[in-house]
Amino acid sequence: MKIKKVVFEPMNEIHENEVKILKKLLEKIEKQEPLQKEFDEFFEDVKQHFEFEENLMKKYGFFAYVPHKMEHDRIINELNEVKKHLNEYEWLKKYFKEYFLPWLDNHIATIDTVTGGFLNMVGASPTQK
Ligand SMILES: [Fe+2]
Ligand SMILES: [Fe+2]
Repeated sequence: MKIKKVVFEPMNEIHENEVKILKKLLEKIEKQEPLQKEFDEFFEDVKQHFEFEENLMKKYGFFAYVPHKMEHDRIINELNEVKKHLNEYEWLKKYFKEYFLPWLDNHIATIDTVTGGFLNMVGASPTQK
């Protein structure tokens, strides 16, 4: 999967790394192997990804903080549900391929792109990694 680049480089690093972690998880799902560890790693990474953006948006007073945060929160809630179905491989495959990945792609191409543009414009420096 080729993800779009934003103009704030620290966000790109986080996005690329997340896709890598998700690929590992998808391999486990394909092979129908136990995936608790990979899922936890993925979920933790998603949380850190979102917190990183939220902290910077707050710090620099980004005008669309609320809708951006709401999208993140919706996905966190969703993944909390997904966590309960880690042995339903077909369903997980469908969820990640047909839902999560297109969502991530769209999220990065829209609100993350606007956020990255803003952070670049104000000369933001990453507070955490
Ligand atoms: Fe992002
Ligand atoms: Fe985001």
